[in-house]
Amino acid sequence: MDKFLIEGPCKLKGKVLISGSKNAALPILAATLLFDKSVTIKNLPRVRDIDTMLSLLKSLGSKITFSKDKKTAKIMNKKNMKTVASYSLVKTMRGSILVLGPLVSKFQKSITSLPGGCLIGARPVNYHLSALKKLGMKYDIKKGYIHAKSDGKLRATTITFSKISVGATENTIIAACLANGKTVLKNCAVEPEIKDLTNFLNTAGANIKWKGRTCEIVGVKSLNEIEYSIMADRIEAGTFCVAATLSRGELEVKNLNPKIINTELNLLKKVGAKIKTSENKILIKGPDKIKPIKNIKTKEYPSFPTDLQAQFMVLLCKANGKSSITESIFENRFMHVAELQRLGAKIVIKNNKAIIEGKTDFNGAELMSSDLRASVALVLAAIVANGKSIINRIYHLDRGYENIENKLKKIGVKIKRIK
Ligand code: EPZ
Repeated sequence: MDKFLIEGPCKLKGKVLISGSKNAALPILAATLLFDKSVTIKNLPRVRDIDTMLSLLKSLGSKITFSKDKKTAKIMNKKNMKTVASYSLVKTMRGSILVLGPLVSKFQKSITSLPGGCLIGARPVNYHLSALKKLGMKYDIKKGYIHAKSDGKLRATTITFSKISVGATENTIIAACLANGKTVLKNCAVEPEIKDLTNFLNTAGANIKWKGRTCEIVGVKSLNEIEYSIMADRIEAGTFCVAATLSRGELEVKNLNPKIINTELNLLKKVGAKIKTSENKILIKGPDKIKPIKNIKTKEYPSFPTDLQAQFMVLLCKANGKSSITESIFENRFMHVAELQRLGAKIVIKNNKAIIEGKTDFNGAELMSSDLRASVALVLAAIVANGKSIINRIYHLDRGYENIENKLKKIGVKIKRIK
């Protein structure tokens, strides 16, 4: 298994080009199952989770051709596609559950493996299943597979999600696109990636309207041939902005509309970063002194995102005072804490709240990645640690950060991938 060797401390300086968003690309790729005509998706990030989703689509019968840089995929579905999403693919990537809605909506049947849990939590899919059931999907679960079918097209209805869920919102919107009538979804997640999905579907002729957390979808007969470019990855952008602040560096983060990470940029200004933004660029300069912040709480968009919690924790370890972060989305998303403590961090966890002492001098060590975002937090800590660090199992990183070591090398990080 690959590992990273990083020698710190480094000061980051230069330009970073943000890649396409993994979490926008996954539902959009799943939604291509609704199409009879060809769909071209551009600006795909070259990361493992996208490869997994593309393999899953191919296993269902999609014909996929790629551009030379593999960032553009042209997808053409067969008339009679397969509808079995196998455990071997689904177990490696939870986002595969997103093929359930389109398969039942388009083909009236699907056998989709229940996704495994993962290190950050049980990751159940009950909200997905209960919403699709209200649209007319019938299912039972046998040997870890969801055996689903519908008598004819799905039927529009009104659904209120009991809890805000990104994936359940996406699965249901996609399924409702071909249902008979107007579906009204209330208490939806409204992450930018979901708006990218509905923008993609409307561009192809779907009829989707948003009013706050309510989404109205009027079913259509079919979707048109289109070409669509995926939005930039706001979590990658946020990660590099934290890196600049943490390392007292100076970065130009390009290709992203800064408005979608407004909450994060305001927090970085609170710790002392100097930030200037223009249309699709962020200029960020790290402060000499990092100020602490009390009571950061991860919540659904537009609040502070859980996917940046680990990265911010590293930053607050270097603050000149005590901070705290509460994780309210996932039940077990503090795996990075034990690793940071091995680097010298002083962090105490009480239930879902982490109290960070601050004034930490990280000393390089050998570290273990656990989940995608915890792994990148270890990279950030290693960048500002004194001496060498080894980060093991970086396949977690390869799931969601495109070409990260080259992007880091270009802005001054002494990093090497060891096969
Ligand atoms: C999406 O996961 C993202 N993944 C996650 O990013 C992100 O952390 C999460 O949204 C929250 O923003 C993708 O977009 C592929 P949820 P998702 O449904 O859809 C519980 C990353 O690092 N829940 O909003 O799974 C769930 O367990 C990943 O890129 C149920 O109980 O998130 C969690 O505690 C990590 N039942 C909470 O709700 C359900 O049916 C929010 O989950 C669904 C979810």
